[in-house]
Amino acid sequence: MKHREIIEQLTLAEKAALMSGKSVWETKDFPEKGIPSVFLSDGPHGIRKQEGSGDHLGLNASVPATCFPTAATLANSWDPNLVEEVGVALGAEASSLGVHVVLGPGLNIKRNPLCGRNFEYYSEDPYQAGKMAAAMIRGLQSQGVAATPKHFAVNSQELRRMASDSVVDERTLREIYLTGFEIAVREGNPKAIMSAYNKINGIYANEDKRLLRDILRDEWGFTGFVVSDWGGSNDHVLGVENGSHLEMPGTTTVGQKELIVAVQSGRLSERVLDERVDELLQVVLELAAQEKRSIHPEGQHRLAQRAAAESIVLLKNDEQILPLKAEKTVAIIGEFAQNPRYQGAGSSLINARQVENTVDSIVDYSLTVVGYAQGYQRIDQPDETLVTEAIALAKQADTVLYYMGLDEISESEGLDRSHLNLPQNQLYLLGKLAAVHENIVVVLSAGSVVDMSWTQHVKAVIHGYLAGEAGARAMLDALTGIVNPSGKLSETYPVNLADVPSSKDFPAEGDYALYREGLYVGYRYFDTSKKAVHYPFGYGLSYTTFAYSDLLVHETGISVTVTNTGTCAGAEVVQLYVGKEDGAIFRPKKELKGFAKVYLEAGQSKEITISFDDKTFRYFNTLTNSFEVEGGVYQLYIGTSVSDIRLVAEVTQAATTDQLPDMAGLERYQSGQVDQVTDEEFARLLGRPVPVESWTIGQELRLNDPLLKLQYAKSGLARLIYKLLHHLLKKAEKKGKPDLNLLFLYNMPFRALAKMTGGMLDQQMVAAILVIVNGHFIKGVSQLWKAFRAKNSYQKQLS
Ligand code: BGC
Repeated sequence: MKHREIIEQLTLAEKAALMSGKSVWETKDFPEKGIPSVFLSDGPHGIRKQEGSGDHLGLNASVPATCFPTAATLANSWDPNLVEEVGVALGAEASSLGVHVVLGPGLNIKRNPLCGRNFEYYSEDPYQAGKMAAAMIRGLQSQGVAATPKHFAVNSQELRRMASDSVVDERTLREIYLTGFEIAVREGNPKAIMSAYNKINGIYANEDKRLLRDILRDEWGFTGFVVSDWGGSNDHVLGVENGSHLEMPGTTTVGQKELIVAVQSGRLSERVLDERVDELLQVVLELAAQEKRSIHPEGQHRLAQRAAAESIVLLKNDEQILPLKAEKTVAIIGEFAQNPRYQGAGSSLINARQVENTVDSIVDYSLTVVGYAQGYQRIDQPDETLVTEAIALAKQADTVLYYMGLDEISESEGLDRSHLNLPQNQLYLLGKLAAVHENIVVVLSAGSVVDMSWTQHVKAVIHGYLAGEAGARAMLDALTGIVNPSGKLSETYPVNLADVPSSKDFPAEGDYALYREGLYVGYRYFDTSKKAVHYPFGYGLSYTTFAYSDLLVHETGISVTVTNTGTCAGAEVVQLYVGKEDGAIFRPKKELKGFAKVYLEAGQSKEITISFDDKTFRYFNTLTNSFEVEGGVYQLYIGTSVSDIRLVAEVTQAATTDQLPDMAGLERYQSGQVDQVTDEEFARLLGRPVPVESWTIGQELRLNDPLLKLQYAKSGLARLIYKLLHHLLKKAEKKGKPDLNLLFLYNMPFRALAKMTGGMLDQQMVAAILVIVNGHFIKGVSQLWKAFRAKNSYQKQLS
């Protein structure tokens, strides 16, 4: 132990107290014993520091801070150096605000486009997500603060997020859902990591010894601390025993009591508790000793603009309508041009310091603007007056810049979408505009995939994603050609939502989220099964063109020459995909294994090298329980997207084992046609029977059932509470703003009431409430009273 001297001075009660926070955002301190407190804050694309009383989903506004583009946006830059720069700026800002631990980056895999938090995550591909996250972590931590990659792991839906079991086979777990975290940990060396709310194959992530100790620490070399997601600690004793350190938020002594009792009864060894305290102190002491950094808000803002600009994706540009020509007149249409959508809702919501908008900023550009029309209501409802005004304005201009996108309610923590459509009122106006105008340029704002079937009616589509506070100018720079778009999509845009194999059961409504599609997430599915898509992974246009030549394979990687064959400077993202046509081990046709962004002047050529690494040829072998390489010939595809491959070469690799898992009975996984996987085939892949829902309507509710199940409670009062909750949620939805605290409650299991009610309830009291909910009113009330008295007398002893 590194901090034996301190730990030996601590009482059991003090050690137990250190494993929970002292408030929503701070760790517990014992200054007289040399233990300081550190401050934790969200979130991935800015610092959300709440002062005064904290409420982890942001009812109380946080202090103003720079709002950078969200992770989904930055990923489109495919530029780890840029992401690292943003990390440095975020780290400095955190430090300047007295924040020691930044709760990000978020790098869950975009398993399905409907996940409400996709805007907070990087990619559908673990290699890309891992590289981006590692860069962000390096940047953040260079400023003396800790990064906290999250949510570890397999946390890809919001519905029942704290009460859902992600059922996934071992190989998919390791290759898809853990590889991003592996890269983030090995290459970023984060000082903290946040465990996910959900279970993985029956075990809460925060209590999973294999995940938190065997894989994270022993295999990947993690030396930081594990923090639970807010309210995500189920059995605190088991969590601490199995490698979790800090239960958050820490507004009660409930967790402390649980640990004390566990040590006293012999359930938890005090040696293990000491070990966790030691590991936590290692980071806390280091962070608290750091000097405060300072920032220049204007510099931060300009970096936010550059980051947004380099992440813009040009999706369509017929007749080279973009960049806009100075002599042409433009009409600006759409509410988002006045009030941009630049971030998503939830714990990541930044109180942005300086939000720019298009209508005010455009005066600084040499464009002839005929005017601005709002065009549609922000909340999806018809408004013919706005439509008429917009059409009249459009008719006066050579080009229409139509600002469209998802509304607030579509991109929120706690709420998955139910479809991919843009708001109907925006599409309605598009139809009307297209009927009178030929030159429509759509400027899109959305942090995740949307239906694109309308693109045929417009000449150009340029996508800024959720671009942060300076996104408006970044977009104007791209529209006018000051910046040449160089972003590429980090997720596939399907033709229909139903084409995505996980869509049949997404979000999973019952206890289990069955990851039936296995490895075939995103492009891995579409590319292998040859299903048409609207825009493929890795896709994005430029105002110039690039040619590829001279692909050479070396022992340590590939080299290829890229030439800018157009008339203006621009940047290209060269992508390396690897496949094995004759593999005995099933695998996607191509998998991303490297990329490089290169900037080229018009006419310039450069030789690019992409190195192989330990991930290039590996697959996870469930027999040897480790990553192995299958022997034989591999295809190396060099492309400008997964479906636009420019050059192919081959390379031979030696096998690392001759033990090959049995692939019999896994035909759909071999062909990649995983949209119809049966229970039998999935069970084969899992190596165990597919779990069957163990709860049916009429059964008693359990501690780990989410509050949304109150609708089925035996107690009439409980059902009434559900109706109220549901009514308030729908009311908020109609207003167009998600109510995050209600959403949190809706998805929260009963047991979390003990940790999320500021000390009012403990586990025994929650168990008694459940007795009431299940229709045994008198028994429940009597148990509640007893538990209440026991809790109060224990609390008195502690204080
Ligand atoms: C979110 C985390 C966030 C935490 C603290 C949770 O609800 O899942 O991502 O860091 O709240 O705000």
